[in-house]
Amino acid sequence: MAALVGRGVRDMLKRADFMTVPRRQRHKKKWAATEPKFPATRLALQNFDMAYSVQFGDLWPSIRVSLLSEQKYGALVNNFAARDRVSAELEQLSARDFVNEAIFHGEPEPESGQTAAPPPASWACSPNLRCFTFARGDVSRFPPARLGSLGVMDYYLMDAASLLPVLALGLQPGDTVLDLCAAPGGKTLALLQTGCCHNLAANDLSTSRAGRLQKVLHSYVPQDVRDRNRVRVTSWDGRKWGELEGDIYDRVLVDVPCTTDRHSLHEEENNIFQRSRKKERQMLPMLQGWTPCHQTRRPCCLFHLLTLTLTE
Ligand SMILES: C[S@@+](CC[C@H](N)C(=O)[O-])C[C@H]1O[C@@H](n2cnc3c(N)ncnc32)[C@H](O)[C@@H]1O
Repeated sequence: MAALVGRGVRDMLKRADFMTVPRRQRHKKKWAATEPKFPATRLALQNFDMAYSVQFGDLWPSIRVSLLSEQKYGALVNNFAARDRVSAELEQLSARDFVNEAIFHGEPEPESGQTAAPPPASWACSPNLRCFTFARGDVSRFPPARLGSLGVMDYYLMDAASLLPVLALGLQPGDTVLDLCAAPGGKTLALLQTGCCHNLAANDLSTSRAGRLQKVLHSYVPQDVRDRNRVRVTSWDGRKWGELEGDIYDRVLVDVPCTTDRHSLHEEENNIFQRSRKKERQMLPMLQGWTPCHQTRRPCCLFHLLTLTLTE
């Protein structure tokens, strides 16, 4: 009883206190505004820990460390520049061409002493690709690419792993190739470096990103090579490609939009794990799952990359 009376008095006092606050200054407590913010980068890591630890098992801790570490770039040599001079300069920095080492030498890994496995047969056109990286544990950075004497940039800095899908595509000389989600253009450029594309269509839904792709092509590939390889840039919705052009390609690369994991762990800006982008994130698997092959008769070589999209 005493407790009840006590609570009644407290409520009255609280109300009286409230009444002394001028009406225009009274406000309801909004939890959403007062709750401490949960950074998108932390939400990303939480999601990755849950999903990838199941998916990758024992490998996840080392993948996690690498995702949380600073990005290491590979330098893709531009074959349309003075490629031997550029390669020699990169060698002087103690970087190594991992593509050709894997193909020609299969040399023992210095750390483990084990011989690297031979590359898959699909790397047929890859001798033309040269991509330099620093050795494991070496965190040196490449100087920014420069405009060479032949009027094009000497190398393109990219995540070296981005070259693997291009190698796995198994291009053959004279292939007609479609890069369906191509911007900003690292893989398109690598496709051209193989010298195998007779006809290359590079597409991206985003017109601004397709503009970046155009700039990359202009900076790295001379006009006559673009003409010879019949390079064409479009900005269509890749999901409708089959309706627009049908089944004319030997190889199709589809680098689908994804959760850009490293970016999601390091940057708040434009982070797909932001609360406001939840719907977009949840729709990603549907967007990724869609393939233009649904609309073509002949099976084409199709790669869905980075389809490890996470939804809350
Ligand atoms: C992972 S990025 C591609 C990176 C690129 N392959 C590279 O190597 O530089 C995915 C791209 O897909 C594009 N995209 C998203 N939805 C698309 C669609 N429906 N059709 C075509 N492109 C789309 C995005 O604009 C984005 O540039």
